[in-house]
Amino acid sequence: MISIRGLEKSFGDNRVLRGVNLEIAKGEILTIIGPSGAGKTTLLRTLNWLDVPDAGTITIDGATIDATRATKRSIKQLRSKSAMVFQHYNLFNNKTALENVTESLILVRKLPRAEAEARGRQLLERVGLSDKCDTYPSFLSGGQQQRVGIARALAVEPKVILFDEPTSALDPEWVNEVLAVMTEIARDGMTMIVVSHEMRFVRNVSTRVVLLDDGHILEDGTPEQVFQHPRHERAVQFLRQADLQ
Ligand SMILES: Nc1ncnc2c1ncn2[C@@H]1O[C@H](COP(=O)(O)OP(=O)(O)O)[C@@H](O)[C@H]1O
Ligand SMILES: [Mg+2]
Repeated sequence: MISIRGLEKSFGDNRVLRGVNLEIAKGEILTIIGPSGAGKTTLLRTLNWLDVPDAGTITIDGATIDATRATKRSIKQLRSKSAMVFQHYNLFNNKTALENVTESLILVRKLPRAEAEARGRQLLERVGLSDKCDTYPSFLSGGQQQRVGIARALAVEPKVILFDEPTSALDPEWVNEVLAVMTEIARDGMTMIVVSHEMRFVRNVSTRVVLLDDGHILEDGTPEQVFQHPRHERAVQFLRQADLQ
């Protein structure tokens, strides 16, 4: 369902993505691990065209875009296929939880307000926040804010949700509730690409692990293969130093 071919991205003379190739099937829960600066966030952001790649093609659910020949229309189409959940939630602080979820439904999808709100309430209920619809982010815990972020991602009915270290900014006490919501979404059949070093999620939920190192894919396999039988010495070093073995 997702095909990434020859993806390249530089910031100035910093070559961040060096020819990434990846095929992801519908329903896969792909976890991306790798050292800080490896290009994990950039890879997710290029899939949503938040960062514009220099070369390569991306296909998501039939929407294909060639970096060298992107049109406004193809960018819009590609963007409509995915939604992102950010490490620092990126909620609008001057909007309630419900308004954060309905914003794109009203502005981008042009749904009538009443319909958007009904949908928003359903989604907040799904992430366990039906009693927080009218609450502003600053009155929510980190875990609750991230669950609003997940409801907002679900709102646009994406084909794939891109999670960028969704629990790494959270106090430990809030991690489980976010993982529980992510696990439920995975069980419902959503395709997910998750940058995370949270081993509870990797071992229990993810179907595949990719180790990104210095802008390319070093290891790719089941969690068992990548964690127990990495093929590259650099991978062994990373896993050991990150305490992931
Ligand atoms: N907007 C940007 N401008 C300049 N450099 C960037 C930008 N975003 C990321 N980088 C650089 O790209 C490299 C990879 O960053 P990133 O994708 O955030 O890595 P990771 O998420 O794996 O830690 C880093 O060297 C980072 O400094
Ligand atoms: Mg990152």
